[in-house]
Amino acid sequence: MAKLNGKKKIKVSVFISGKGTNLKSLINFSKKKNSKIKINLIISNNKNAKGLYFARKNKINFLIVNYKNKKIAEQKILFNLKKNNVDLICLAGFMKILSKRIIDKYKGRILNIHPSLLPKYKGLNTHKRVIKNKEKFTGCSVHLVNSKLDSGKVISQKKIIILKNDNEKTLAKRLLKIENQLYPKALKKLIYSNF
Ligand code: GRF
Repeated sequence: MAKLNGKKKIKVSVFISGKGTNLKSLINFSKKKNSKIKINLIISNNKNAKGLYFARKNKINFLIVNYKNKKIAEQKILFNLKKNNVDLICLAGFMKILSKRIIDKYKGRILNIHPSLLPKYKGLNTHKRVIKNKEKFTGCSVHLVNSKLDSGKVISQKKIIILKNDNEKTLAKRLLKIENQLYPKALKKLIYSNF
């Protein structure tokens, strides 16, 4: 694995399925002066993911994986992670659940961003549920991925107030901006504590 005290950078693969705003923010972070990371592989299960634009724009190698057969899809993913010497995986709106074989292979080296204050509101439709439950706050969490959904160790979290007039859409929009700021910070924290 790449060492921080060496000259090599930590190689990161980002997995996406959709818009890719978190991918964009991680790419910007990787382009900063003295950055310790290089994003060298972007993986999408969705060939129409808007986020692939950022891969093309930044000339980052990307791979589209057909998930019709999950076992074959994951074999392809593992092969390409190895081929690209990937040290760390960032899930950024990746709508597929990784199976144990990938999680075990990259134990402690897979991050995910989730739009809630974990351990509260694991799973989908977080904004809808927090509004329905009349929560006063919500937030986002960057956590390590283990074999239980949205249950690994939380690395960083940011809390926001739910406004009176907030609906699912306004809340998601506001929180996404916070997510985009939090993800690079959490990645930095993990890198400095583990590598
Ligand atoms: C984010 O809200 C993230 O928390 C969730 O999926 C969304 C992805 O957004 N897991 P983007 O594709 O990074 O813009």
